Amino acid sequence: MTRRLKKRGSVDPKICKQWSARSAATLALLLATLLCAGRAFGQKPECEFYYEYRTVFLEKVQEENHWSLTNEQVFEKYAAKLKSDGISESEIARRLRLLRTEHAALDSDYYSRYYLDSNANFNHAPNRFLMEMVKGLQPGVALDYGMGQGRNSIYLASLGWQVWGFDPAEAGVAIAQRQAKDLGLTLHMAAVPDSEYDFGKERFDLILFSWTMPLVPIQKVLDSLKPGGIVVMECGTDFLRSRNAMLHLFDSLEIKHYEIVRDKSDWEGRREVDIIRLVAKKQ
Ligand SMILES: C[S@@+](CC[C@H](N)C(=O)[O-])C[C@H]1O[C@@H](n2cnc3c(N)ncnc32)[C@H](O)[C@@H]1O
Repeated sequence: MTRRLKKRGSVDPKICKQWSARSAATLALLLATLLCAGRAFGQKPECEFYYEYRTVFLEKVQEENHWSLTNEQVFEKYAAKLKSDGISESEIARRLRLLRTEHAALDSDYYSRYYLDSNANFNHAPNRFLMEMVKGLQPGVALDYGMGQGRNSIYLASLGWQVWGFDPAEAGVAIAQRQAKDLGLTLHMAAVPDSEYDFGKERFDLILFSWTMPLVPIQKVLDSLKPGGIVVMECGTDFLRSRNAMLHLFDSLEIKHYEIVRDKSDWEGRREVDIIRLVAKKQ
């Protein structure tokens, strides 16, 4: 699972080199032993089972049920499937416990791995709706909410926006920072989930939700928008169970644009899905 990177200390590089060669071998051996021990007890590494659960099981079962199932209903179906696959009771219990208690960590690890995978199938170019919506706007201060590997942050920064952003997937934030540095751009990024982000008050001219949505009370987010500032959002209709629920999340703002269209997703395997596109302005 992804953990925060430790700060580098000031160790002699030669000692460090010898140590790292020896310790890397020891560590590899230890990891292999632990992994084998886990497998011997019928345990699947967390990243492996969560990848299968998220990309195969969850998608299929939610699609069959028109994205109407609660987490607990999905877990129940998952447990039944594992049982029919002959997985031991203790392993089923372990996976359900992890899904219930470590979901955020499993998910940020999943996204970190995804961003590091050169074959990952998502739109690496900036979001097209965002590009259309900021065309001709005076650059100001933007927040990229759940910025992933920074494709949209980099785009906004290249137009002259001051860009702030956050995402719990550490590898994504690191990729964005590296790319920004290579391009001579500055990004203000944090590797945290929204629940740990300090939004502040009336800071942003633009808040972008590109295939993300707020998981904290919406008022906290809207308070950080300047008067006259806008929210730009694109996501799938499956993000919330009720089709127009996302629109009502922004009821306190002036809705400038709202549509649900069938189009190619930036995510979701680049399939055609029902997509919400919304722009809302704070008075
Ligand atoms: C489908 S990706 C979209 C990434 C990016 N906005 C883009 O369009 O390229 C969803 C992102 O939301 C992030 N995420 C998940 N939970 C989050 C949370 N609680 N707060 C902020 N970001 C979160 C994930 O780590 C992932 O990078």
